[in-house]
Amino acid sequence: MKLFIETFGCQVNEYDSERIQYFLEREGYQETKIIEESDIIILNTCAVRENATNKLYGRIGNLKKLKVKKPGLVVCIGGCTAQSLKEKLINDFPIVDIVFGTHNISELPELIKKKYSGNKRICSVPDEGFDYDLDKTKRTSRFTASIPITIGCNNFCSYCIVPYVRGKEISIEPGKIIDNVRGLVEKGVIEITLLGQNVNSYGQDLNGPIDFASLIGEVADIPGLMRLKFMTSHPKDFSAKIIDTIKKRENIAKHIHLPLQSGSNKILEAMNRKYSREDYLKTVDLIRKEIPGSSVTTDIIVGFPGESREDFQETLNIIKKIRFNRAFTFIYSPRIGTVASRLKDNLNLEKKKEFFSELLETQNKISGEINRGFIGKKFKVMVERKSTKKAAFLRGRMGNNTLVNFNGPDSLYGKIITVKIIGAKNFYLLGEIAK
Ligand code: SAH
Ligand code: SF4
Ligand code: F3S
Repeated sequence: MKLFIETFGCQVNEYDSERIQYFLEREGYQETKIIEESDIIILNTCAVRENATNKLYGRIGNLKKLKVKKPGLVVCIGGCTAQSLKEKLINDFPIVDIVFGTHNISELPELIKKKYSGNKRICSVPDEGFDYDLDKTKRTSRFTASIPITIGCNNFCSYCIVPYVRGKEISIEPGKIIDNVRGLVEKGVIEITLLGQNVNSYGQDLNGPIDFASLIGEVADIPGLMRLKFMTSHPKDFSAKIIDTIKKRENIAKHIHLPLQSGSNKILEAMNRKYSREDYLKTVDLIRKEIPGSSVTTDIIVGFPGESREDFQETLNIIKKIRFNRAFTFIYSPRIGTVASRLKDNLNLEKKKEFFSELLETQNKISGEINRGFIGKKFKVMVERKSTKKAAFLRGRMGNNTLVNFNGPDSLYGKIITVKIIGAKNFYLLGEIAK
């Protein structure tokens, strides 16, 4: 029996798909990349913005033909949209057989067995639960691995659906994380990414003197671990102690993804972000002073309800002042159940799109300038995979996470090598293996 999994959304979902694969392979299913030959299709969904949900609807629509050809095909929807919409997916889409949530991935084999024996369509989406066991994960890469350190989120930023679909923040015991990293490193993994919606608040729910800074210190000290990355950080919890730990460990990536969301204090407050633009500037100043050569990237939302031209101007100003290596930019999308979705929104979509392009243009120029500054210098690059840019090119990342494309043999996969930068685009660099 063949299994096809498609993952939407963030790295947490990517990780969950590795868990889904683990549980189903244990039952004898084999993964396939060819959807037409699959017996079970799993769509692991994202709900963070409306276009993520629309993409899912499109995908379900496309599956209709396949289901007609193969009536025995079992279509399962999991992840954040499943958690949010529950039975609605069963009611609205006759081709969907099983809907499962974010808290019960381990129950999936049982749901599939029920479906095969009773032929009924099933919706099982508990509101809470915790079924994470780090060892029960199918590792799909030989050299890199992600590990969740916190599940869920307690922050309730007013625009965000994540706390509703992922539940309250639960930290995984440090001993379990460390054992898991050790095991992976013994198998040849050289790069680990620690995941959480706000990794900086790690440990607040555990009994014991552990926080994020001490966790990354301990993980980084595991012999053989070449590179340690983490995301996402939250400006309100990003402490001087964390900066100090990053600075003192050579193998911790010198990259902080620190979502700013807006440069206006009025909007930050309405977003319930719990920091001001001044706090944010101070944190970035400290990062830059203490960790030279580090990169800072961010997320920005434009068109939040009540955002005026002046508020947007403050975002543009802070972006020009900080000069992020890269910014991921989004147009605000109202999400069911969130506080912001009930706010009056005066700004029309036209205006939001205008803000969005202005922001993009400003940031692209900055990213391009920063990237051109790397030309002629040499960096240690971790070779991640074949580049998407050109068949013969490899793709890797510098210690500050900047992407580099360069020519080289397949044997370099999973190695850290020295690359000289010879060209720059807005979102990546071109290099050559240093002699
Ligand atoms: N936990 C992380 C990531 C959350 S989702 C964090 O706190 O930053 C990733 C990004 O999506 C967010 O940083 C935000 O910029 C964006 N986002 C979240 N909800 C959104 C919404 N309703 N509309 C538009 N962008 C949104
Ligand atoms: Fe959403 Fe805010 Fe939690 Fe990030 S910190 S997941 S933006 S509520
Ligand atoms: Fe991630 Fe999307 Fe869910 S960003 S946590 S998959 S809503």
